[in-house]
Amino acid sequence: MNKRRVLYGLATVPPLVLLSVCAYKALQRKRHSLPWNYDVYLSFRGPDTRSCFVDFLYTSLVAAGVHVFRDNDALPVGEEIGPELLRAIRSCRIVIPIISEQYAQSKWCLRELVKIMDCHKEHGISVFPVFYKVELYDIRSGSGNFEEALSKHMRVWPDEVAGWRKALTMVTGPMVTGLKGWISQITANGNEAELVKIVVGRVLSELKTTGIERLPLFPILMSNHHIRSWYHHHLEKRRLHSQVFLAFRRCDTRDSFAAYLHIKLVAAKIRVFYDDDTSLLGKFILEELMNTIEHSKISIPIISQNFTSSRWCLRELECMVKCNKTKGQKILPIFYKVNPWDMKHMSPCFEVDFRKHKENYPNECEGWKRAFKEVASFKGWESEKIANGHESELVKLVVGEVSRLLKNSQT
Ligand SMILES: *[C@@H]1O[C@H](CO)[C@@H](O)[C@H](O)[C@H]1NC(C)=O
Ligand SMILES: *[C@@H]1O[C@H](CO)[C@@H](O)[C@H](O)[C@H]1NC(C)=O
Repeated sequence: MNKRRVLYGLATVPPLVLLSVCAYKALQRKRHSLPWNYDVYLSFRGPDTRSCFVDFLYTSLVAAGVHVFRDNDALPVGEEIGPELLRAIRSCRIVIPIISEQYAQSKWCLRELVKIMDCHKEHGISVFPVFYKVELYDIRSGSGNFEEALSKHMRVWPDEVAGWRKALTMVTGPMVTGLKGWISQITANGNEAELVKIVVGRVLSELKTTGIERLPLFPILMSNHHIRSWYHHHLEKRRLHSQVFLAFRRCDTRDSFAAYLHIKLVAAKIRVFYDDDTSLLGKFILEELMNTIEHSKISIPIISQNFTSSRWCLRELECMVKCNKTKGQKILPIFYKVNPWDMKHMSPCFEVDFRKHKENYPNECEGWKRAFKEVASFKGWESEKIANGHESELVKLVVGEVSRLLKNSQT
């Protein structure tokens, strides 16, 4: 599983130099205390929203490559919030409580909300509430449905109700710094599909500004020896455990096909090395990337229209071909909206890129070109020819083939 780790406030607090040291320390602490298993935790009242809004939000987040925890099961047994749930909340970077009409009727929801707000205070977890078809006023001032539910609870759990009220007030208020949320009725004129898009966008940008994997976005940090060695370590761990190396051109497929394939491979319990931004990495990473390819059992290059414009993609491809020659490593190319014939015969769209590379990397360029042409003759999948371009069918085929090959290689 691709664990993400966090640096808080990296984007906002200057000066960067001082920060690199603090960030590293914070990172070390976090690394030991909190494993980030999930990106997002969805907390909601099942009967109100499970089959509609939550389902839509969940699938949209997953499709965007976000790792989501959704408590999809029946209510927990016993009186306490289960330790797994608590651990899941604490392992998340962002919690989205969806406060709906019947939310306060469930003592589980309320207990969960208390834990969420605690985690927000103690561990700095981001909380982005969605107020789903409810009035903020009712929640904050205890009126309407919310007051009714809380009064009922008062008879049975008098000790807890005060805490629940406080959590409800906190989640609605600007009292807690960093809390932002949406009111479904007034966001995008009540258009829920738009609301889902907005929430997904916000989540992605939050993950981007806090993700350790985006560290290279802060070049000054990269000059910090500690961060660098941490990154090295991080990469090393993934490298040793990957079975499949996925290479793709970020601008073409990162948010679509590659993300989807990655999710499905992981769901099939296949360990994937998915470097989502090699172009930003410094040179020192190159060697490690090559090592990673060498240690994988299968390489999957997703050759797309702009693949050749990236020298990183070409370097990876060349390495794959080399590993096939020296170690018989398997390569499963996906020709994503490109034609292998065009590749083999160097159609102008690719030729242009190679000509540019030749100016800057005259020594390497010929090797890249050879590898590129060679891969064109490998057996793979042409996306447009599979199930009329239905990408989910293609993903199924790829996952099936990878599983089969991995199984065979074990026996
Ligand atoms: C990708 O390639 C197409 C055509 O070859 C070009 O028009 C487009 O600008 C490229 N996109 C990027 C992000 O490089
Ligand atoms: C790579 O090498 C092995 C063994 O030499 C071979 O069986 C395999 O088909 C080759 N090609 C690809 C594309 O994997």
